[in-house]
Formats: sequence, structure tokens, C-alpha cells
Amino acid sequence: MLTVKTKSDLRQALHGARLAGHSIGLVPTMGNLHEGHLQLVRAAVADCQCTVTSIFVNPLQFGKSEDLNSYPRSLVYDTNLLSETGCDLLFAPDITEMYGIAGSMKTNILVSSITQNHCGKTRPKHFEGVATVVTKLFNLISPDQAYFGLKDYQQYRLIEQLIADLDFNIKLNGLPTARDDSGLALSSRNIRLSSEQRRAAPALYQQLQRTAELILRGNQDLRRLESEASRSLAAQGLEPDYFNICHARSLEMACQHDKDLVILAAVFAGDVRLIDNVSLTI
Ligand code: PAF
Repeated sequence: MLTVKTKSDLRQALHGARLAGHSIGLVPTMGNLHEGHLQLVRAAVADCQCTVTSIFVNPLQFGKSEDLNSYPRSLVYDTNLLSETGCDLLFAPDITEMYGIAGSMKTNILVSSITQNHCGKTRPKHFEGVATVVTKLFNLISPDQAYFGLKDYQQYRLIEQLIADLDFNIKLNGLPTARDDSGLALSSRNIRLSSEQRRAAPALYQQLQRTAELILRGNQDLRRLESEASRSLAAQGLEPDYFNICHARSLEMACQHDKDLVILAAVFAGDVRLIDNVSLTI
């Protein structure tokens, strides 16, 4: 596996693959890789002749009071893991390489509507940062296929919309959330959980499943289910940010007639923010 840190080295490294007519798969990440990321990379390796993984902790998607500085970084460890997956190319730029000198970048990509609520409410500029960096990666790499985890469901819907709206000729693949034995969704942030928070954290997925089950059994009082779920999470030591039963595509609050639903939730375990979701069809 080749590691490149500049855009020009990236273009040069991809030139051969392009000339040979090889299909290119992209897995965008912020590093500190876990099994969930590796599943995305393995899927890309299986589908495409050339797999590119990017590792870039994107400052544009962190708010001022968020964990940009403490976000775990582990490039050497990540490089070793990646080289065992069959990944061909690692793109690991620094901030100046990606955005130029501070303040020189003047363009932001805003995907409206689906980004307004849920995580978008608590993290106002987050999705603009995600859309902007993903657009840059798509332009730099021109992948045939891109791979994202469905744990970040709202992000996945954003990318789907972005690809359609900006005419990217990219097949989007959303892979199921990877979980540990307790059901906790794998996340780079999990290593920041104390042992007590770690014990409480699986309650999030358990609550999502319980609420989904109640809906499937015919309970239609969705707003009440949301508030009961939030209360139950708080009682288990997880401070709810939101617990919303939504239409699976528009991400608007679901009503009784909707059939395809997704329950989106975010909680704080101390200062560690955890998100998860469950999809269901009635
Ligand atoms: O999901 C992530 O890790 C990030 O939001 C992404 C897509 C790599 C953009 O920085």
C-alpha cells in the first residue's frame, strides 16, 4: 500500500489506475480505524480494482466547543491495519494541503433540509463541513464507488443527496453498523469512554430496538415513544441529545402514515457524544 500526503502525489498515484481502466473505490475516514472502517475497506477491495482510503480529521465539521483537539489520531496504527486489508492507496493530507493557508478557503457546500434537524441542530456547521470535505475528496479522486457506514445515517442521506444534486457519477454503498458484543456501535470516540460510561453505553442501541419493537407491535403514539425513550436513557446515565422517529428518506419527524422509518438518536456519556439508529418498515 502506498501512502501519499499531497494532492499532486495522489493524482499521480491514481494516473496509472485510470489509464489501465481500473475501477476506483473510496473510503473516506477520519482515522483511528476500527472494524467498522475495515469492513468498508474490505467491501471496496472486493468491488473495485483500486481502493483508496483517506484519513483526514476535518476541522470544518467540528464546532468550536467540540472535540477536534482530543479526537483520537493514530496514523501509524491505521497504516498497519489498512495495509492488511488489500487497500492500495492511503491519502493522508494535513490541513494546509486540504484547505490552503488558514482563511483562504471560501467555498462551503450546504445540503439543505435533511441536514437541519437531529445532529444538524446540535452541531450547526457540522454537515457543511462534511459535505465540503467529501466533495473535495470526490473531485480529487473521482471514485467509481464510495463507501460509508450507516451508523451515520443522516450523513449517509446527505451524501446520497449530494451525489444526486451535483451529478457525481459515483455509486454510493452504505454498510450496516458494526457493533461489539454488547451491541454498542463501533466508533472512534468509544475509546474516550470511562469504564462506567462504557457499561452504560449499550443502553442506547437497546432502547432503539425496544422502541422499534413497540412501533412494529402497533404503537402509533410516536411522540410519546420518543419522550419515554429519552427519559429511560437519562435514567440509565445517558444524557439524550435527541431521540427522533423519522421518515427514512426525508428525515422529517414521522407521522402515523409513514411506512419506512428510521429512529435516530444521540446521547452524551459524559462529554462523549454517541449516535446510533435503527431502520424499520411497518
Ligand atoms: O464519517 C466520517 O468519518 C467523516 O464524517 C467523513 C465522512 C470522513 C468526512 O470527514
